[in-house]
Parts: sequence; structure tokens; C-alpha cells
Amino acid sequence: MKRIQLHDKIFRLYMPHEDIQTAVKNVAEKINNDLKDADTPLFIGVLTGSFMFLSDLMKNINFPCEICFIRLASYEGTSSTGKVKQLLGLTQNVKNRTVVVVEDIVDTGGTITELDNILKDAGAKDIKYCTLLLKPDNYKGHIDVQYPALQIPRDFIVGYGLDYDQLGRQYKDIYVLDEDETERRKSINVR
Ligand code: IMP
Ligand code: MG
Repeated sequence: MKRIQLHDKIFRLYMPHEDIQTAVKNVAEKINNDLKDADTPLFIGVLTGSFMFLSDLMKNINFPCEICFIRLASYEGTSSTGKVKQLLGLTQNVKNRTVVVVEDIVDTGGTITELDNILKDAGAKDIKYCTLLLKPDNYKGHIDVQYPALQIPRDFIVGYGLDYDQLGRQYKDIYVLDEDETERRKSINVR
């Protein structure tokens, strides 16, 4: 089985590019149906993790729309710090607009809860949430995530934009943390 090493951890192949593309097309189709009559929606990509997903998603959106980015940070290593920082703020006017937030992954929901406050304060009229991946078992938020492309268990994953301490974003496939293999290799090195 295909494996990659990032820093001290081993990850194994979880989802090939072709399956990701199918999920992206399906979620784009739902958005096309729901928002075709909305007044020029604004897609907001949440940097950095969403860059690959946003790029593939937008190639499948067939109504007039705008795109911009926002950057928040809540993660250190493989677990959420629970605090969200705004590193790059909103550049576009969202007042009275339909916006579609595009995330790489919704885990505890802390990031989108924070984003929801920022967008409501800025006067957005209708806020939709689209994410490549949703971890329903970890999700503690109250916001409806209308457009999850894929739902996964509590696993820690990388690739297709997602990182482990900034590594692994460039892979076109998705990989999952392989704890057994990471431990096995550690024990071999120690001996
Ligand atoms: P939340 O605020 O707990 O929902 O976490 C959302 C953010 O944490 C995502 O946008 C990712 O940047 C990061 N994150 C959550 N789970 C993972 C994962 O499995 N791999 C890589 N990053 C993750
Ligand atoms: Mg993110």
C-alpha cells in the first residue's frame, strides 16, 4: 500500500484522486441547482487548506460568481488548539450578499463558528457552508453544513490541500495517519 512520511509520522493512501473528483462534481451539482438564481454569490475559500478543493470545485460551478479568500488558523500538529486567529481578513464586501464558505475540512466546527460571526457582523444575507470533508463525530457546532463533499470518521488526514505541520498539501490523493506503522518504524529505529 502506498505510504508517505511527513515529519515523524507515516500516512497511508485513503482516497485516490478519482474518487475525490467524483465527490467534488457531485457537491458542485448541488450548489449549481440551489444557487443558480441567487444574485452573484461570493465564494470564500478558507486558506490554506481549501486551495486545491476550491480550484476543482469552481471549475464545475456554472453560474456567475465571485471568489475571494480568508485565512484563519486553529490547528497545531494533529489536534485543534480551540482558538481561531484571523490571519488574512475579508477583502470583499459581503453586505446583503449570498456567500458560500469553502473549507477543506470541518472538524470541531470552531473555525466555521468563528467565520459565521465574522460574516454576520459584515452583513452577509445568506451564508452557506461547503467543505471537502466533514468529521460528524467531532462536530460540536450548531451551523448547518449544507454541502459536505465527503464525510469521514475521526481520522487525521493529509493531502489535496490538507497538511500535517505544513507538509503534505501538494498530494493529489488523500492520506490517513497510520499510527501502527509510525510506531513500528519508531521501534525499529530505537533498537
Ligand atoms: P475545526 O475548527 O475544529 O472545525 O477545524 C477546522 C480546521 O482544522 C480545518 O480547516 C483544517 O485546517 C484543520 N483540520 C481539521 N482536521 C484536520 C485533519 O484531519 N487534517 C488536517 N487538518 C485538519
Ligand atoms: Mg482550514
